Amino acid sequence: MIQPICGQTTRNESLNILLVGSGGREHALAWAISASPLVSRLICAPGNPGMAEIAECAAIGSMDLDRLVAFAKTNRIDFAIIGPEAPLSAGLADRLEDAGIKSFGPSAAGAQLESSKGFAMDLCAEAGVPAPQYRRCKDAQEAIAFAERLGYPVVVKADGLAQGKGVVIAQTRAEAVATIESMLGGAYGAAGDEVVIEEFLDGEEASLFALSDGEHVLTLTGAQDHKRVFDGDTGPNTGGMGAYSPAPVLDTRTEREAVTRIIEPVIAAMRARGTPYRGVLYAGLMITRGEPKLIEFNCRFGDPECQVLMLRLKSDLLPALLAARDGILDSVDLRWRNESALCVVMAAKGYPGSYSIGSEIRGLDRAKEIEGVEIFHAGTLEKDGQLFANGGRVLNVCATGKDVVSAQERAYRAIACIDWPEGFCRQDIGWRAISRGPAV
Ligand code: AMP
Ligand code: GLY
Repeated sequence: MIQPICGQTTRNESLNILLVGSGGREHALAWAISASPLVSRLICAPGNPGMAEIAECAAIGSMDLDRLVAFAKTNRIDFAIIGPEAPLSAGLADRLEDAGIKSFGPSAAGAQLESSKGFAMDLCAEAGVPAPQYRRCKDAQEAIAFAERLGYPVVVKADGLAQGKGVVIAQTRAEAVATIESMLGGAYGAAGDEVVIEEFLDGEEASLFALSDGEHVLTLTGAQDHKRVFDGDTGPNTGGMGAYSPAPVLDTRTEREAVTRIIEPVIAAMRARGTPYRGVLYAGLMITRGEPKLIEFNCRFGDPECQVLMLRLKSDLLPALLAARDGILDSVDLRWRNESALCVVMAAKGYPGSYSIGSEIRGLDRAKEIEGVEIFHAGTLEKDGQLFANGGRVLNVCATGKDVVSAQERAYRAIACIDWPEGFCRQDIGWRAISRGPAV
């Protein structure tokens, strides 16, 4: 097991922290935050069995806004950290702040960068951010005509939150027409009341993360995830089957370009609109010949990208999150390990389609003993000391190593110790970084 190293901090408070969420991202955040000397109590709502080993858990769902606010008040929470996008879009940060509880995560107005793809694209256009050509449409004929103008493949997106399923890359006119009609016809509920038709960009994807306090930007680091379910990046899209950091495609120049041309202008534009963005901004980038373009914003850490970021973070995360809330992010610096971190997602067979829950998982203790390995829970349930699968993405088997090859070898060695016949994972996480050869 490895522990994050806590950096020097100028604060000497003892804080009660509420962390909202229950997935692998939140387990990784809890792992990092629990190592902070600033923490008095760390309570996760609702948390998961992995988080229960390092924090207290309160059985309140992340969308139960009323109970979360009431709980935070009665338990004298000093700082709430909101992991997932749904409560952020529903205004949990606003509600907590109105109740006098400091919160990390954007307001509902800020979270529109993720909750409305059309809003994000309009903001990019306004701020001169490099992004695909696009059009927002409520009318199918107008959407089809614009798709025809762009040519194929073309990207069709439901405007609202659709659990990562609202993006279709249509290869032909027939596919585009069917997708547009189905989205506008209600197949995605209210999320598809409007569609965004986008130019298809060819290149390599990467995720770049930055904190903002509404004015200042603190760039974290980059990562790459594997969204497709099968080896070789084939099969349907998922929430993410694995990730690694650093992302070799985000070299220093490309990352700088993404910060100055994409992240900083968007933070400035949100501020100019009177809705400053405070929290973590996740920029999904398409990089073509070293030039990054924005394909999506998310208003939260990526999952499983957060897991590898936390493993590489040397400094105490908590002062940085507090500074983002307090508007003093310019006083913070974060240090990162030079090592690579890699995460392999173990999912229930059938995911992202239908799958069953309730199968038993054994062997985690042996897996955790491997040097550099850390296992985060994403969808598990504990009963009488035994562990069971309780979701689609179930475990995040992560490892650090001197390079991505070594991190990959350790993660798969740990997976070999896990006895869970009803689960599966990709065997090639990290292939893109590894196929580039050693960094020079
Ligand atoms: P999202 O749910 O917005 O992350 O999109 C899912 C995936 O669709 C992305 O990870 C990309 O692989 C792909 N995608 C989205 N927008 C574009 C685009 N304009 N051009 C090419 N691929 C895209
Ligand atoms: N891993 C992709 C996401 O968090 O949206």
